[in-house]
Amino acid sequence: TKRVLTGITTTGTPHLGNYVGAIRPAVAASRAPGVESFYFLADYHALIKCDDPARIQRSTLEIAATWLASGLDPERVTFYRQSDIPEIPELTWLLTCVTGKGILNRAHAYKAAVDRNEAAGNDPDADVNAGLFMYPVLMGADILMFKAHEVPVGRDQIQHIEMARDMAQRFNHLYGEHFVLPEALIEESVATLPGLDGRKMSKSYDNTIPLFTPRDAMRRLIAGILTDSRAPGEAKEVEGSALFQIYQGFASAEETQALRQAYADGIAWGDAKQALFERVDREVAPMRDHYQELLAHPELLEDILQAGAAKARRLATPFIQELRHAVGLRRLS
Ligand code: TYM
Repeated sequence: TKRVLTGITTTGTPHLGNYVGAIRPAVAASRAPGVESFYFLADYHALIKCDDPARIQRSTLEIAATWLASGLDPERVTFYRQSDIPEIPELTWLLTCVTGKGILNRAHAYKAAVDRNEAAGNDPDADVNAGLFMYPVLMGADILMFKAHEVPVGRDQIQHIEMARDMAQRFNHLYGEHFVLPEALIEESVATLPGLDGRKMSKSYDNTIPLFTPRDAMRRLIAGILTDSRAPGEAKEVEGSALFQIYQGFASAEETQALRQAYADGIAWGDAKQALFERVDREVAPMRDHYQELLAHPELLEDILQAGAAKARRLATPFIQELRHAVGLRRLS
């Protein structure tokens, strides 16, 4: 069997980028025969950039509801909250000790923070907590704990998965074959979905379209997507058009081809936005009520997460024992 695993950080409301980059491919993978999947709420990761407990709790509820409303079957997959698995921080330490500090210096998220500080004339590590620096190791533990072969993610996570591979290789080399080497599973056409302003859709840029925002709000948000000033009747460029790329993330090849033609024929931006709204709404509308219903029943979600944690720990507990033994953390007799 093949193992598929992915997680979402609990710092905000899930958006279209999370959906097409991770949730949709993950749910699809979980339905394939011979696949065992592990999907989780990365709430330890959330602490790195969020010190607002209420926000983390709200986001945990929203992301759990999003997974289920998007078709995840908790009977079929292992669905859990990272912080319910104490073996994960334990594995993080074991991996920390086989990870070169230099590798972490080169991690994109850490480097971006350092560059930002230097550009502002501040100490390079001014606002950097050690959690941000260690982020890839915690993520490595998430992935390696459950021996995942494939990790469906957006392009921004590729480097982290390569680092997890390096950690696995190094550990296996030192202590014997314990870990599976994971690979990123990336759908090229949606690897980086742009947001309202054309940059990568991201909570940190405040340019997102929340997946389950009410219909009217969704229409207004889509109407606000940045376009150029070409008038109706003038041919439009698909290259660099956020609107076109988001459409492509939701549409079939034929639908995408039709919009490409409409661009060439000079479709008015208002009409293109309406087409995008209708296409996204067609996919999201059937799930929206279910999402709202789930939000209203946190106790139900909590039961599902507890059952998932128990399932996950049936694997994690013996595995961490195996690893402790492998590195020499053993009883004397
Ligand atoms: P996070 O919470 O930032 O994003 C969750 C998933 O959504 C994808 N994504 C996108 N895909 C396409 N276009 C976009 N604009 C876009 N924005 C976000 C991300 O690539 C990701 O797949 N570190 C991870 C969470 C994590 C994890 C893991 C993932 C923790 N442990 C283990 C996989 C395996 C993160 O912060 O993702």
